[in-house]
Amino acid sequence: MEQFHWNRRMVLPKRTSELIALMAISTTLFLFLHTRDLNTKLKEMEVKIQPYSMVSGNQLISGDSGPAEVSGMRATMKLLESTGEMQSLQPTRLNNTRKAQTEVVFFNRVPKVGSQTLMELIRRLSSKNDFGFHQDRVQRVETIRLSLEDQAELAALVSSYEPPGVYIKHVCFTNVSNFGLPEPIYINLVRDPVERVISWYYYVRAPWYYVERKIAFPDIPLPDPKWLKKDFETCVLTDDRECRYVRGEIREGIGDHRRQSMFFCGHHHDCLPFDTRGALERAKMAVERHYAVVGVLEEMNTTLTVLEKYVPRFFEGASDIYWNEISRYTPINKNAFKPPVSEEVKNIVRRNFTREIEFYEFCKQRLHKQYLALKL
Ligand SMILES: *[C@@H]1O[C@H](CO)[C@@H](O)[C@H](O)[C@H]1NC(C)=O
Ligand SMILES: *[C@@H]1O[C@H](CO)[C@@H](O)[C@H](O)[C@H]1NC(C)=O
Ligand SMILES: *[C@@H]1O[C@H](CO)[C@@H](O)[C@H](O)[C@H]1NC(C)=O
Ligand SMILES: *[C@@H]1O[C@H](CO)[C@@H](O)[C@H](O)[C@H]1NC(C)=O
Repeated sequence: MEQFHWNRRMVLPKRTSELIALMAISTTLFLFLHTRDLNTKLKEMEVKIQPYSMVSGNQLISGDSGPAEVSGMRATMKLLESTGEMQSLQPTRLNNTRKAQTEVVFFNRVPKVGSQTLMELIRRLSSKNDFGFHQDRVQRVETIRLSLEDQAELAALVSSYEPPGVYIKHVCFTNVSNFGLPEPIYINLVRDPVERVISWYYYVRAPWYYVERKIAFPDIPLPDPKWLKKDFETCVLTDDRECRYVRGEIREGIGDHRRQSMFFCGHHHDCLPFDTRGALERAKMAVERHYAVVGVLEEMNTTLTVLEKYVPRFFEGASDIYWNEISRYTPINKNAFKPPVSEEVKNIVRRNFTREIEFYEFCKQRLHKQYLALKL
């Protein structure tokens, strides 16, 4: 009798432990498959690290096109007519593609301006228009400002691709010809700088962003829930450090996400302080001298037409693919975690972004000039 009980007791726990073991194995397997799946996705999505480094992600933003685009173009036209510039606009004078010494496009993309979408467009065009597509590999820390040696290395890398080809990387403007190498065709995209900063703010708080980071780099701690819950309006109105944009300030950290002009200014020390005249002038000069096209997210129609006409070897047929294949399936802004921000708060931020806004308007006007010169 006693032995029987003893046996039963032995059998039951054995079954239970087997069951537990089985459950554990399947859970592990599930987690393994899930992690592997996420890791694959992660690689595809090219997720970058550090909240304040240059992060690209799974979020496609497709550009808008509407009445604002049309009225913006009219305003530029009126301005150019009043200064007498309208008649003298010539595509050849606005065409930096002609200055290129090699058929390699260097797209030093700015994050959170819809450049992921433009990259997808270029990827599709690469098979249609028959050119090479090269993209920077995933990096733990995205460094956008490089030492002179690293700039030389990057210039050599860009020059090593067989033309025709496109190379894409998050990096400040790198003057390839300064290293005695052939001038590539520079392109980029910009966006309203305040909208961009808000987009960034919610992007680094979106669950997919930090969960993926955690999986890729387990040693990085999960963010504080209080930080995650903080909304942009409160952040600005309470004078929170994170949402304070002060002229001349140099933020710690390699990737200063607040300024898209930094991607055009270059690697010089003068490019570091926030919203300064010196950085703005350098950025404008690089655009004027080197960039074939700097598109504007809010004006995708104009951007695509200008890319098609000024860089035809690569962008022929871009509008068609964009409107029929890409934007049709891409919501304007996929981050469902981004609540609306009031105009009042945006205006408070705008007051501190004067040079950034000036740079954005400068790029927009240049794009308009290029478009108007075509006399379509
Ligand atoms: C954008 O381009 C498409 C196709 O070329 C055209 O049908 C549409 O009217 C344009 N929209 C604007 C706002 O210019
Ligand atoms: C880039 O380098 C070339 C050659 O040294 C120089 O002429 C040009 O002014 C430089 N561009 C900028 C924006 O500094
Ligand atoms: C704007 O700049 C001023 C200093 O010029 C600073 O005191 C203020 O906190 C800034 N505001 C925001 C929202 O960045
Ligand atoms: C700009 O220059 C490129 C290269 O020479 C040429 O293919 C393109 O047609 C030009 N576009 C315009 C609008 O002049």
